[in-house]
Amino acid sequence: MGRVPQDLKVKVPDPRLSIIDRRLRRVKRIIIIASGKGGVGKSLIATTISLLLARGGRKVGLLDLDFHGPSCHIILGAADAKPEEARGLVPPEVHGIKFMSMIYFIGDRPLPLRGDEASDAFVELLTITRWDQLDYLVVDVPPGIAEEVLDIIRLIKRAEFLIITTPSALAAKTVARLSQLLQELKVPVLGLVENMCLASEGMAQPVVGPEVKLLGRLPFDTRVEKALGNPDLLLKTNFARSLEPIVKKIAEPTLGARSVGHPVRSLGPGD
Ligand SMILES: Nc1ncnc2c1ncn2[C@@H]1O[C@H](COP(=O)(O)OP(=O)(O)OP(=O)(O)O)[C@@H](O)[C@H]1O
Ligand SMILES: [Mg+2]
Repeated sequence: MGRVPQDLKVKVPDPRLSIIDRRLRRVKRIIIIASGKGGVGKSLIATTISLLLARGGRKVGLLDLDFHGPSCHIILGAADAKPEEARGLVPPEVHGIKFMSMIYFIGDRPLPLRGDEASDAFVELLTITRWDQLDYLVVDVPPGIAEEVLDIIRLIKRAEFLIITTPSALAAKTVARLSQLLQELKVPVLGLVENMCLASEGMAQPVVGPEVKLLGRLPFDTRVEKALGNPDLLLKTNFARSLEPIVKKIAEPTLGARSVGHPVRSLGPGD
């Protein structure tokens, strides 16, 4: 028998995709901390935003999807916490945050994933994690603007992006490309945060253009390094204090309007 031509093959939908929708149904807002560029502070900002929201009385989940170098567990001091198995995986609660990470699956081993394998790891983690009810799910993603971002948009329907950059022409170019891609795909962008600023003058806004709002600038703060793993200390740094007004803006109904109002349905049995 001859081979079936590619275009005649029936594409079987991945049943896990509908499970992801159900898993996230009781999550009000999903905020993706992205950049395109590596090392700009995505993980630090994702973790600190989660801590600030949780201290403000919100129900918060933090998902570290970075399989290259998961690091939110270090910033959060979550070394001993482990997810619990119960019809999926229930994230442990660490400093008031429900926390799930690639680190629980890959440990300290390097995990060189490519293309489909990386997508599959995202799908798997999103399929098995039981978040239950959350006001915010903050997602830290690996650097990159191609497959990683397209995967997130495909898998997480209500994703809103917060773009992180630094006052460097090198970061700004990548960030401008990410911002353009998100706008072309009509994905909500909450705004831009410029991190590790030394002077009050930044440079992100002229690079990304007026469509993306600059929500604020965060200082380079030498106290951050000592505060890694110690959320109480981290929240006392100038870095975290400068993040507070940005978190308030993110929580504003006008900025979150595109995802607020989404039906938050209850899950049926088996979810
Ligand atoms: N405002 C800041 N002040 C001082 N140090 C900072 C600041 N922001 C980030 N850092 C430090 O810079 C380094 C990179 O930060 P982080 O790991 O959060 O970046 P990232 O964008 O997640 O990197 P990657 O792309 O590799 O995942 C870390 O050591 C972090 O503690
Ligand atoms: Mg990171």
